[in-house]
Formats: sequence, structure tokens, C-alpha cells
Amino acid sequence: MRILMVCLGNICRSPLAEGIMQSKIDNNKLNWEVASAGTGSYHVGNAPDPRSIQVALENNIDLSQQRAQQFKSSDFGYYDHIFVMDSSNFQNVSKLATNNEDKEKVVLIMNMIEPQRNVNVPDPYWGEHGFEKVYEMLDEATDEILARYKN
Ligand code: 4NP
Repeated sequence: MRILMVCLGNICRSPLAEGIMQSKIDNNKLNWEVASAGTGSYHVGNAPDPRSIQVALENNIDLSQQRAQQFKSSDFGYYDHIFVMDSSNFQNVSKLATNNEDKEKVVLIMNMIEPQRNVNVPDPYWGEHGFEKVYEMLDEATDEILARYKN
């Protein structure tokens, strides 16, 4: 199974989602792939935000080798599941889908826990203290992804 985590810049939220998911894939010895991307291009080639690297490190997860990339239409063909962080990401990714099969791959990540509630993972970029909260939300969501698709 191939999973893509998507946010806006691919430097704060989706790198954390990728790193947390990757650690669970490793711990469970699963033959899954995970990557991340942003709908925007501003940060392409950059490492994750230092605050994301820090909160991950506190949980023994290393994001430092990740580099931001932009979501592209061909990702629909490669990935089985595309988890987006907020409703804006959802719109931006969904509008690039060209058929229903692609559209159905796009899921708001917190809907894995509370279907239909459309809870956003808040963008922590401009704030001071959002990164712990983002980590906790993504830890819960990735637990659910694991439970749902493991067997
Ligand atoms: P992310 O956060 O989408 O979680 O990576 C952001 C990072 C950078 C910007 C916006 C959101 N920015 O506007 O540069």
C-alpha cells in the first residue's frame, strides 16, 4: 500500500504525518510506502520546519532528511490513499482529480477518527505552540490508518 500525506507547504504538518506513519510502518514491519507533498510550491526542496523536526525528535522520529515536494496530478496514479490535513488541501487536491477513483483516494485525515466531522489539522506555521497539538492529532490519525488497513 502506498500513502501520501498532503498539506500546504510540506514543511510543517505533512512531514510529521509522514514521519509518524513511517515509524509505525517500521515498528509493524509492514510493506507499505509513505511520502508527503504540499499543494504549494514555495518550500520545494526545503527540509521540514525546525519546530516539526523538534517535536518529532522528542518522540524519537527523525524528519531531518525529508525534502519538500509539490503534489502533482500523477500522484493519483501512484498512491492508493491521499490523506490531506485541512479542507483547503482537500479542495486543492480534489480539483486535480480527473475521475471518481482518484477523487475517492482523497480523505481528510481526521475523518479517519471522526468520519464526516471534517476536523482540520490546524496550520501551525504562524503560531508558537501548535506543533505539539498537531503531533498528537496525527499520532491518533495514523493509529487509525494502521488499524484500518493492516489486515
Ligand atoms: P504546512 O504549513 O502546510 O503544514 O507545511 C505551512 C508552511 C508554510 C506556509 C504555510 C503553511 N507558508 O505560507 O509559507
